[in-house]
Amino acid sequence: MKKEWWQQKVAYQIYPKSFLDTKGNGIGDLRGIIEKLDYLRELGIGIVWISPCYLSPLADQGYDIADYYRIDPRFGSNEDMDELIREAKKRDIAIVLDLVVNHCSDEHSWFQKAIADPDGPYADYFFFEEGVDGHEPNNWRSYFGGSAWEKIPGSNRYYLHLFHKKQPDLNWENPKLREEIYRMINWWLDKGIAGFRIDAILNIKKVFPLRGHDFPPDREDGMASCTNMIYAAKGIGDFLREMRDRTFRPHGAFTVGEVFNETEEQIPEFIGPDGYFSSMFDFRSNIFGRSGKGWYDCRQITPDDYRDACFETQRLVGDIGFISTIIENHDEPRGVSRYIPPEELSRRSKKFLGTMQLMLRGLPFLYQGQEIGMENIKLHSIEEVDDISTLDEYQISLQAGLSEEEALRSVNRFSRDNARTPMQWSDKENAGFTKGKPWLSPNPNYREINVEAEERDPDSVLRYYRKLIALRSDPEYKDSIVYGDFEPFMQEESRLMAFYRRGEKNCLLVLGNFRKEEREIELPVDVKAVLLSNVDQSEIRGRRIRLEGYQALILAVSEPGKTGLS
Ligand code: GLC
Repeated sequence: MKKEWWQQKVAYQIYPKSFLDTKGNGIGDLRGIIEKLDYLRELGIGIVWISPCYLSPLADQGYDIADYYRIDPRFGSNEDMDELIREAKKRDIAIVLDLVVNHCSDEHSWFQKAIADPDGPYADYFFFEEGVDGHEPNNWRSYFGGSAWEKIPGSNRYYLHLFHKKQPDLNWENPKLREEIYRMINWWLDKGIAGFRIDAILNIKKVFPLRGHDFPPDREDGMASCTNMIYAAKGIGDFLREMRDRTFRPHGAFTVGEVFNETEEQIPEFIGPDGYFSSMFDFRSNIFGRSGKGWYDCRQITPDDYRDACFETQRLVGDIGFISTIIENHDEPRGVSRYIPPEELSRRSKKFLGTMQLMLRGLPFLYQGQEIGMENIKLHSIEEVDDISTLDEYQISLQAGLSEEEALRSVNRFSRDNARTPMQWSDKENAGFTKGKPWLSPNPNYREINVEAEERDPDSVLRYYRKLIALRSDPEYKDSIVYGDFEPFMQEESRLMAFYRRGEKNCLLVLGNFRKEEREIELPVDVKAVLLSNVDQSEIRGRRIRLEGYQALILAVSEPGKTGLS
């Protein structure tokens, strides 16, 4: 596998709306990000991915873009972005922007022109179809609920939106549209950004004809999930290859794809040596237990399921390419609230989870607040919810017969708002996020969990993350941590998450006791050094090790199969 600069970094996702507000309008902004670059540098971050901050009505929080070339004034200006790129570069931080090109906003001028003249050239930038027998053109259900088709006012045609109705899908079959997109990508890359995180990209290839293309209904609404389309559509590679060759490749850009449910054969296609992207996210543990019926029907993930999901991705990706790991993002609940049983959530178990993520093979993406152990919120009423997806799932739960209270609890588990509450900078009003009225209330636990307090406390989650990240660039162990082979250790042992990382110079053994009870294990190797532990004293007697509950331990060991300390 070819070695690349970005593989040795740790990345950090910023959700700008909730990061830091310097203007007092209750919405985070680019100047807030500039202000915190030193904080990120000190944490050891080398790549920052910023969720969309382009002009947008914010129907889906910026994933509905009205002008790809303009920063939304609520987030700042294009000059702020130029400054951010420059200031980040000074600190050796690469900026990665979000590329949202499956759809745009219905307020984009392309769409405005298209609906003003449904027979004109811009109509072909979208999918306009006539209905069938007075109904929508087909029975696809949008990801955010309801039909994926919306009537064009004053016309007998509908437009396709796989996401919200304010997010019309772009027609990639149209070469003119593709040219527009490549031009825009190159324009941003020329500004000096390092690359893109690529949104919802599997959706760009549709099945044709769209009209009348029904799938078997999967709920009582008679509709079918539009993921059916992703599986049925053939030929997405042609678009992705062309985009790569026309934009990313000539710029040597870094790209990470939002790719769900990839098949084994697709891994080399997407991230192999000649792949469409540099990397893609591992969502295996996020999608674990998902149900076609809705969030209310999802199965809870157990510690063993979590471990097995992570290991399965490691096995499948192997040496083919370089995966990107996450425990959470702006669409997912907080990792610590999801993967650690609630009664076992503690500083130590948070550090445990961070150790597991950062020691797997891949490029780790932290999501803002992860490094201080931010947790899910507790919803008291559906009125508190902003996220369109949560509102839809709430209705689905009610329709399935859940009481209001049960429905609220079921959406609380997965709500996208869990991770979207403001970043907790201090114990001051609004967590130090804004001097105005925050667009979403902060998690009340900000009085204990915040950056300022954790900076002061040598035992904090933040201080631990710093050590963990620093270890990845330790000249002695870097090679094993970044490139070392992954090999499970004692996977048959319930609630133990352990693995080797075998590099050319060193062999590491990562031990994670994924339960609150202590345990003893006998190692088949000799311990050369303890590199990091989330527990003060590690009890190691020869090859016997006692692990405390939720202890994570990183060891340099002799090669398995070999004895002696040489
Ligand atoms: C991706 C984004 C999500 C957004 C959707 C539509 O999944 O991560 O936030 O709602 O695409 O753009």
